[in-house]
Amino acid sequence: MTSPVPDSAGRVVVLTGAGMSAECGIPVFRGSGGLWEGSRPEDLATPEAFAADPERVWRWYRERLAGVLEAEPHAGYTALAELERRLPDGAVTVITQNVDGMHRRAGSRRVVELHGNLTRARCSAGCGRTRPTEEPEPNEMCSCGKGTWRPDVVWFGESLDPACLCAAERALENADTAWVVGTSSVVYPAAALPRMAAERGVTVVEINPETTPLSEYATRVLRGAASEELVSLAAAWPEGSTR
Ligand code: OAD
Repeated sequence: MTSPVPDSAGRVVVLTGAGMSAECGIPVFRGSGGLWEGSRPEDLATPEAFAADPERVWRWYRERLAGVLEAEPHAGYTALAELERRLPDGAVTVITQNVDGMHRRAGSRRVVELHGNLTRARCSAGCGRTRPTEEPEPNEMCSCGKGTWRPDVVWFGESLDPACLCAAERALENADTAWVVGTSSVVYPAAALPRMAAERGVTVVEINPETTPLSEYATRVLRGAASEELVSLAAAWPEGSTR
């Protein structure tokens, strides 16, 4: 099978999902012990759920935030941040579906947060104002007078921020290699990004202990845990110039 490490570095895009943070103690969504086990996403992570019971939805997001703030980035996170510092500017981009902010906390700088960020609240009317998640009361109006405060995350049934999606697509268009780490690859449009890259000839390395719908498209599959696999990959990664 092809080696996951090429002769020259090129541009690397790292696309992460909840499994990337599992070893930090932050639960994944699907499967045993996952956040969706025993609760339906429709009851918590949709605009309808928020409209019906904002207190409940806020409580759930604040509990998740508390768990995230207690957790620390693992060695795989640090390895990605160090790789970005070691390679030429722009050679490493992280695209994450996670809302836990761990990549930036670990020191990664080029990070596209496709599904938002748990630490922020935003005006539901889209006026652009944001605040720390801890601050607003449920049903509190934004000072624009048009919307209430909501978690700054993407819910089921909502579109991704077009600027984020565009940045992610652009990064993958310019990538030589994509590492896809800890995602079940079932939520779109994120799931389509590495598959389309693989079809264009980008080397796609999947890091996931389980088989996913992406596995058959991947150039190489590493069935280990995110921290260990990323530390090894980053350590073996060549120096290199971007094209
Ligand atoms: P999932 O919970 O669907 O999948 C987590 C994946 O991580 C699974 O494929 C696991 O096998 C894998 N995994 C678990 N531990 C791992 C480890 N230590 N190292 C590597 N992989 C590991 O999470 P996502 O794919 O991120 O969206 O879910 C996608 C989206 O669905 C989320 O962003 C969220 C959710 O509903 C929204 O809320 C919009």
